[in-house]
Parts: sequence; C-alpha cells; structure tokens
Amino acid sequence: MTAWADLDAVRATALGCTACGLAATRTQVVFGSGDPAADLMFVGEGPGADEDRLGQPFVGRSGQLLTRLIDGIGLTRDAVYIANVVKCRPPDNRDPLTDEIAACRPFLEAQVDHVAPRVIMTLGNFATKLLLDTRTGITKLRGQEFPYRSGAVVVPTLHPAAVLRGGGVALAQTRADFVVAKRLVGRAR
Ligand code: URA
Repeated sequence: MTAWADLDAVRATALGCTACGLAATRTQVVFGSGDPAADLMFVGEGPGADEDRLGQPFVGRSGQLLTRLIDGIGLTRDAVYIANVVKCRPPDNRDPLTDEIAACRPFLEAQVDHVAPRVIMTLGNFATKLLLDTRTGITKLRGQEFPYRSGAVVVPTLHPAAVLRGGGVALAQTRADFVVAKRLVGRAR
C-alpha cells in the first residue's frame, strides 16, 4: 500500500519533488486530474509544453484527441482520472529516462492505490511497460486485458500522439480499445 494517507498528500509531496533532474527544467509539476474515485484511469507518458505551462495533463493536441476518445465512450474527462508516468516535462519532449521513471513511480502507484480504478488504460509504450512490467511493444498488447496488482484490469492502447501520426487505422484501433475498456468498467466485480 501507499505511504500517503490520501491523494492530496501524494499531490503535496509531488508538487515539491526534486528527486530527479526534471525538477530543474519544469515550469510546474503535472500531477493528475479528474475524479479521484474514478472507475476508469488513463496513464500517459509525461507532460509536454502545454501541460507544463498549464499544470494539467493532456491539454495539448494529444489531449484534445484523448478528450474526444473519452467522449466517444459516453464519458467525460471529469468522470475519469488522468495521470502520467512522469509528472514533469522532459526537455524538448524527449523520452523519459529510466531513472526519471523510477523516481516518479511511487507517485503513480499511489495514485492507482488511492483512485482504485476498475480499469486502467495505458497510453503507449512507457505506461504499458511500466505497469505490466513487460518489454513487449504496444502494438502486440493493445486492446487486450491484463491483471494489475491493485486488482484493476489494464487495457493498453496507442498513445494519442501516435494515433495523430498513424491516421485512420490507428484511430479505429484505438476507438475499439476504448470500447473494450468501457465494457470492462461496466462488468460486475
Ligand atoms: N502526452 C502525455 O503522455 N501526457 C500528457 O499529459 C500530454 C501529452
């Protein structure tokens, strides 16, 4: 279980975190947003420039697509919880480094423990590899369900940025993955 009493305590620690080098270049920590008791949680990679500026996850172009995909299964951003593998922007949008992911991992794990979602959609390779402890790539794993240690089910899907690059096929696959997640949210425990 987590070292923090509640999600606000996790947030308070994260906002002052200097555990990795990203602390030196961030504008602000992007902790997470949405319903702290959501049944459906999304985990992305890390903040980009827009998120770093506004302090909210997925508010740039990828975020607009994520919002549309959430709308497409009859939910809203307020009804789900959205977080990232790393809470601070990697400079120039580079991939997060192994030590940065490791330093931030306790925050994500505590978010999962406190939100206690039924279903976690991992968006792209970084979130999928971290939560499923796998080296298998997202294209092989997407759209399937995997157990997570919290009791939640993980459904990997493409990162919205990859969907924006990938065009119609990627968008259709991702929409189908969201339908899988929606069905699992509704499934009796
Ligand atoms: N990409 C991510 O992985 N997370 C964000 O918050 C924004 C873009």
